[in-house]
Amino acid sequence: VNRTIDWDGDAIAIIDQTLLPGEERVLRIRDVEELAEAIRSLRVRGAPALGVAGALGVALAVRGARHVQAEADRAAALLAATRPTAINLSWGIEQARSHASKGAGAVLRAALELVEADVRTNRAMAELGAEWVAENIATPVRVLTHCNTGALACVEIGTALGVIAESHRRGLIEEVLATETRPLLQGSRLTAWELQRLGIPFRMVTDGAAPSVIARGEVSLVMVGADRIAANGDVANKIGTFPLALAAARARVPFVVVAPESTRDESTGSGAEIRIEERGEDEVLGYAGVRVAPDGAHAMNPAFDVTPADLITAIITEDRVIVPRLE
Ligand code: MRU
Repeated sequence: VNRTIDWDGDAIAIIDQTLLPGEERVLRIRDVEELAEAIRSLRVRGAPALGVAGALGVALAVRGARHVQAEADRAAALLAATRPTAINLSWGIEQARSHASKGAGAVLRAALELVEADVRTNRAMAELGAEWVAENIATPVRVLTHCNTGALACVEIGTALGVIAESHRRGLIEEVLATETRPLLQGSRLTAWELQRLGIPFRMVTDGAAPSVIARGEVSLVMVGADRIAANGDVANKIGTFPLALAAARARVPFVVVAPESTRDESTGSGAEIRIEERGEDEVLGYAGVRVAPDGAHAMNPAFDVTPADLITAIITEDRVIVPRLE
């Protein structure tokens, strides 16, 4: 398996991320309803991978359709409603849907181009990011990261984890500290699995421990991905990112966001306008089907938070390094 998501000729092939690290199973998705379920349940997840899923989903829906535009519109509405926070999902859907008037073939070609563009974008971010690390952070670098921003969150390579892997390849990295990322453990399950395969030294930390680990001077860099970047530079990312940024600012440790230009949303002025996905309370009250909290307990489960631009040292995209404070 070398791609998180791809087109296999007549289906969307994804690695089912709910089964990792225990099992590497490829799912072949043949209709849009099945894709919507896979997105909602996080079988495929991570902002860039969701963009590609959205585009391929529209392409899947219009195959053999009599009314291509109507089918594309229906699929677009269904898929866009699955998860609200990552802008890449609706961006990818629109990239494909905008070709519907030219027929199903044009939609599929646009979606396939988006798959390849994602790989190129990630490669460019990894290189630009590793150069930034080399120039700005004293070696050996000790970096803390959150959630999963590796190849599993994209088609290949990754965003923040792509930069970390490239920096490691260049001999800059001593150790990675990876947060567990409650409630669904994208860190412990997915980032740990990827770091192991990349041969990068790492240890896990609980989400609760991470801010004080930063305050104690254990890391020289915090590097995360993003699900949506507002026009003013505020960043929505996995819940638990904001406390890392607060701790990093207090400890004067650089806090860096790595995300493609497609994650920037110029139509959203600030983070306050970003819709934060609220997921089911069972994800918090237990894990993997095992109830932990007593019967009758309830939970809040925001899946993302917003880090204000003034806490962000730099945003690295495939094209440039943005310093929100100076924009
Ligand atoms: O709920 P998820 O697992 O889709 O959330 C993923 C993240 O928050 C990532 O950090 C984000 O998508 C950016 S990295 C590609």
